[in-house]
Amino acid sequence: MAAELSPIDKAKFVAAKRAVGFVQNGMKVGLGTGSTAAWMVRCLAERVREEGLRVTGVPTSTRTAQLAQQLGITVTSLDDAKWLDLTIDGADEFDRNLNLIKGGGAALLQEKIVATASDQMIVIADAAKEVSTLGAFPLPVEVIPFGWQTTKALIEETLVSLDVLNRDCTLRMNGDKPLITDESNYIVDLHLKRIGNPRQLALVLNQIPGVVENGLFIDICDIVVIGHGDGRVTVRNINSGAVEDDHIDLAPGDNIFADLGD
Ligand code: A5P
Repeated sequence: MAAELSPIDKAKFVAAKRAVGFVQNGMKVGLGTGSTAAWMVRCLAERVREEGLRVTGVPTSTRTAQLAQQLGITVTSLDDAKWLDLTIDGADEFDRNLNLIKGGGAALLQEKIVATASDQMIVIADAAKEVSTLGAFPLPVEVIPFGWQTTKALIEETLVSLDVLNRDCTLRMNGDKPLITDESNYIVDLHLKRIGNPRQLALVLNQIPGVVENGLFIDICDIVVIGHGDGRVTVRNINSGAVEDDHIDLAPGDNIFADLGD
């Protein structure tokens, strides 16, 4: 079955599989959103099924909640769990300091709340997500629908004085209507090309009325697990500085590959 996967999916799968090895019995785990996180949910469900691992998941979107429940993972809300041992999630970009851009799947708000409420955040990604400077991927900003055009104008005006290469901002659409997030908000994508000072940008964006949250994750991620299409994985820990190379078997059980939706 693994032979049918594209190299990018193999990379996502091995990163997810390695990261799920960090989960221990009894842990409360934040479950990320996106195609890489969906592999993680599958791999975690496999451990629950085959090893009897006891785990409680806190999903970061309705999509992830549905997948986790469908695969037999016990899920609860963040309010019930209160604090988590670990969150495992994907990213759109990460840099060498493990600062991230997230929100390509429009779930950045819940993702940031859940990751921040965790002892540890592990990002799982294929190697193409690593960048020297953040910003080639459009930065998602969640805004409330009321007055969104004013909020977008304020964002554009704010960007003039910041270290970015480009300032185009677009409302994310779902067909001919604005995309609505799980929290009933809109997403404005900032096409910045290059973000010179991610920390400053993240702080300044959140000062603008109408902005709920931005997709820059600064000092939140502890570990990145980078997957490659040939089964190699690299685990980098930003706190200890440790770097570990590993290899994951690409011939897992058939159930992992059955009907995987995002
Ligand atoms: C979801 O809102 C995002 O933050 C995802 O984690 C991010 O877009 C990565 O998604 P993929 O794993 O699908 O690339």
